[in-house]
Amino acid sequence: MKKILITGGAGFIGSHVVKLFLQKHPTATLVNIDKLTYAGNLENLKEIEAHPNYVFVKGDICDRKLVKSIFSSYAIDTVVHLAAESHVDRSIESPFEFAQTNIMGTLVLLNQAKESWEKDFSNKLFYHVSTDEVFGSLEETGLFSETTAYDPKSPYAASKASSDHFVKAYQNTYGLPVIVSNCSNNYGPNQFPEKLIPLVIHRILENQCIPIYGQGLNVRDWLYVEDHANAIDLILRKGKLNHTYAIGGANEWTNIDLVKLVCRTMDNALGNKKGTSEKRIEFVKDRAGHDKRYAIDSSKLANELGWKPSLQFEEGIQLTVHWYLENKTWLENVVNGSYQEYYKKQYNTTP
Ligand code: NAD
Ligand code: DAU
Repeated sequence: MKKILITGGAGFIGSHVVKLFLQKHPTATLVNIDKLTYAGNLENLKEIEAHPNYVFVKGDICDRKLVKSIFSSYAIDTVVHLAAESHVDRSIESPFEFAQTNIMGTLVLLNQAKESWEKDFSNKLFYHVSTDEVFGSLEETGLFSETTAYDPKSPYAASKASSDHFVKAYQNTYGLPVIVSNCSNNYGPNQFPEKLIPLVIHRILENQCIPIYGQGLNVRDWLYVEDHANAIDLILRKGKLNHTYAIGGANEWTNIDLVKLVCRTMDNALGNKKGTSEKRIEFVKDRAGHDKRYAIDSSKLANELGWKPSLQFEEGIQLTVHWYLENKTWLENVVNGSYQEYYKKQYNTTP
């Protein structure tokens, strides 16, 4: 009977992980700690909030007392750590919050895991969900893999790289059983509309411009969020202790081609004349220090654990566009801020 602490479970990827784990680990207790920053949305978890194996704790992973009490109250034996400040543009504006949550918060969790488990590390695991951005930026060729040297370029990437290093240092120094995975760009339902794909969908719905940084030639490797959640579950159950795993979609797109694909999919779904949405594209000032290209070699995960993405990209974009169109209230609530009231309604207290 596992007792799993998931951090950041009200966010985009975390909410998919929580829902998947409740299906795949029917005898486990799942405790979700989330601070409910602007990126945390309990509406993402509406359908499972009353599940008997699920507990929600509103709190900050930097709060040592709270983290300690969660470990002892629920006898936590597994941590799946997703809580983070996740948006690169915000990290350029306010890097301190990124250092606080991503580095200090990870350290608090690691240290508590070490203290709670050090008498017997067997059947314990600290799983850190990280990003390919820790590896820096690629030119036209080459792929990131588990052996790529760290070379983070943005404050966000630097904070995630630092947290990865702390995880590995706790393994090396104290023997804490850990796994780290580094994944490429995710997309799909529940993604906050500051990220490129939901931002484009939202801008089209609002008849606003679609901003593309620089010339739109930067490349990202896109993966459907449920494929990432499935990879995390597979690695958690079958991955080798103290290993790292690179996860990617083998699906590289320049930003401009990706945005045009989303525009075409939106035009079809809305019954617009071909080319309508593309007219909204505007090339704007580039992101500072904008990484040129990310691309992942997932062959370790494929060869050792048999993982592969389940969806073709066009199919994933269709699903995503239709999800946002069918869940306009989710988007409206996020944009007008009322999603943050959901906690008050559910828990009858102020967040
Ligand atoms: P997100 O921003 O959507 O969600 C982050 C969640 O963490 C939110 O629910 C937020 O409330 C919570 N949180 C933030 N600070 C907290 C704190 N101090 N204490 C407790 N909770 C806190 O992020 P996401 O896109 O779902 O990413 C989740 C994880 O996956 C992150 O660690 C990110 O670095 C990593 N990752 C993301 C991607 C991607 O494409 N989105 C790709 C690879 C890795
Ligand atoms: O690679 C994994 C990372 O992917 C995750 O670790 C991050 O948490 C996640 O936010 C994502 O980072 P990116 O910076 O790649 O994602 P974003 O959606 O912000 O941007 C994708 C690309 O689109 C990037 O090259 C910048 C560009 N862009 C973005 C926005 C928001 C634009 O051209 N215009 C925009 O308005």
